[in-house]
Parts: sequence; structure tokens; C-alpha cells
Amino acid sequence: MNLNEQSPFRGGGVTILAIESSCDETSASVCVDGKILSNFIANQTVHEKYGGVVPELASRAHMQNIVPVVDAALSSANCQLSSVNAIAFTQAPGLIGSLLVGAQFAKSLSLALDKPLIAVHHMQAHVLANLIADEKPSFPFLCLTVSGGHTQIVLANAPLDLKVIGETIDDAAGEAFDKTAKLLGLPYPGGPLIDKYAKLGDPLKFKFAEPQIPGLNFSFSGLKTSVLYFLQKQEEGFIQNNINDLCASVQYTIINILMKKIKKAVDQTGVKEVCIAGGVSANSGLRTALQEMGEKHGWKTFIPKFEYCTDNAAMIAITAYYKYLAGEFSELDVNPSARAEW
Ligand code: KG4
Ligand code: ZN
Repeated sequence: MNLNEQSPFRGGGVTILAIESSCDETSASVCVDGKILSNFIANQTVHEKYGGVVPELASRAHMQNIVPVVDAALSSANCQLSSVNAIAFTQAPGLIGSLLVGAQFAKSLSLALDKPLIAVHHMQAHVLANLIADEKPSFPFLCLTVSGGHTQIVLANAPLDLKVIGETIDDAAGEAFDKTAKLLGLPYPGGPLIDKYAKLGDPLKFKFAEPQIPGLNFSFSGLKTSVLYFLQKQEEGFIQNNINDLCASVQYTIINILMKKIKKAVDQTGVKEVCIAGGVSANSGLRTALQEMGEKHGWKTFIPKFEYCTDNAAMIAITAYYKYLAGEFSELDVNPSARAEW
């Protein structure tokens, strides 16, 4: 296929069909000229009883979900496959078996329809989820991306010019939520449950150690150990009797660590447009903390809608839209798990 024939500059709308399958959500989205028309997400409940995502089960569930999810995204957007200009998929990072399902599906569609393929970096997409809303940040902006596998501070100079200026040296913020939730006897994924119970608790009731990491990097592995040692010293029944305060105190500590670093990033770069992204940005405490920081320090803050925080194909679609405009297409033999460039 001659990609020049698909040049975005020939007029008409640009319609992208995007697929996200990096972990345990199967999602498809249709986006026309940067506007999201549909975003379907099938969650996989099969992992709950194992306390974490089981890669093999995730791939199988993706295979069952992908056709109905893509169908739903197309029909809800009132879009025929023939009107799609490009097929996008999550290239990396993620679970290899899960990535393969989405990538193979996207490649097959690309081949069958003779439409270009666009491989999208999952973390880049989380950042660009902030460009979905009508009220968008202006470039340059900072983005605190907090997910189950990553914690990063990204300096976004343009949609396709993103630079990681800080990241975790061990666990991600989402892991800190999920691992401490496990210590508190809460099922996976624990982040949303900590959020729920924290609303009823006192965030200052228990104090957990905060790491002293220089620069803009983060560390979260010490928090889990600090919570573990604290719990080991308590009487039986302590967790049940103090679950709200424990969740509130853990959440407060994680948010404090994140907020201190984003404040440092603003001070260092002078950039005062600040976004959050990734699954943990669904956390109500973090959303409030960012807003309050913005009001206090005169930042403009942006928070994606809930459905665009956790893994979703709309963020893949919006990123693919910018890649389409820039003519950044992928070959059919692109490796779905390669360390994709941003
Ligand atoms: O971005 P995401 O959906 O998947 C990855 O790419 O990792 O993030 C998943 C993470 C999980 O650790 C989950 O516990 C966390 O996001 N999470 C939350 C909340 N909702 C999801 N953490 C805290 N509070 C929430 N409300
Ligand atoms: Zn993610």
C-alpha cells in the first residue's frame, strides 16, 4: 500500500478505529477529526480471585471480547468499516499475550481493508488522553502519569514530543495502592477500594514513612514495607476496626509523595499547565489534591474524565489521530511488544 495515497491533507474527515488490549481491559474507540465518537471497554472479572492479572487468562478474555467490543464501538459511532482511514493499536508496554491479540486484530483489519496501521505507545496515549476534552491544556504542559505499571512526570512540548523528566525507581503508584490494599485484605485491584474507604476515614490518623528521593524520581516500595511492619505490631481485628482510617492514611501518603514531585517539576520547568493521567488519576483524593494545588499556586490543571483515566481505546485513538496527521504509520510486521519510541 502506498501510504502517500492516505495523506491526511487531501481533505475530508480523518476516522480512526483504535484498539487497546495491553492488560486486562479490551477496548475499542472511534475518533473522527480528534473527536471521540465511541469508547467501549470490556473489563475482565476473571482475575479477581487470583489477586492480580493472570496473563494467560487475560489473553483468552481479549480473544472473546475483541469482536463484540470493536462491533459495539463502530455501531455506536454509526461508523462503517469502509469509512475508517486508519487502524490503531497499543504497541507497548503491556502483557505480551494481551498486546498480541489487539495487534493481530488491528493488523488483520489493516490488511483486509487496505488501510494504514498506527502503533501507539500506551504511556504516550495516557498523557494525550488530556487532549480529548474540549478544554485542553496548551503546550508545553506537564503530565503526572500514574498507572498500575508506571509513574512518570512527562514534559509535553507537542502531541508527539513528550519527554519523561521523572519516574519511579521501583513500584508504580498504582502498585503502591494495590499492594497495600492486599495487606489490608482487600481484593485486586485495591486502588478503587482504598479510594472508597478513604472517603470515610481520617488521613492523619496513621503516619507512614515518605521516601527521600532526590530530583523528580519517585519510590513507592518502602511504603508497602512501612505499612506491613506497622500492621504486624497490631492486635487482631485492628484492620477491620480501622479500615477507613488506614485507607485514608495510605492514600494521603501516596498523594503527598506525588504532589511534592509535581510541585518540584513546576518549579524546575516554569510550566504551569498541569495534567494527570493513568488509572490512579481516577482517585478522588488525587483529583482534589491537584485542583487545590492549582488554586494555591496559580496553575491551570486538567483531569481527564474517569473513563479516559483507566485503560481505554479513546486515548489510543486520539494519539493515533496526531500520528496520522504527522504521517507516522507502521508496517504490518511491527513488533507489538518492542520498546516503542514516543
Ligand atoms: O492505567 P491503568 O488502568 O492500567 C495500567 O496501565 O496499569 O491503571 C491501573 C491502576 C491499578 O493499580 C488500580 O488500582 C489503579 O490504577 N486505580 C486506582 C483507582 N482506580 C484505578 N487507584 C487509586 N484510586 C482509584 N480510584
Ligand atoms: Zn494504562
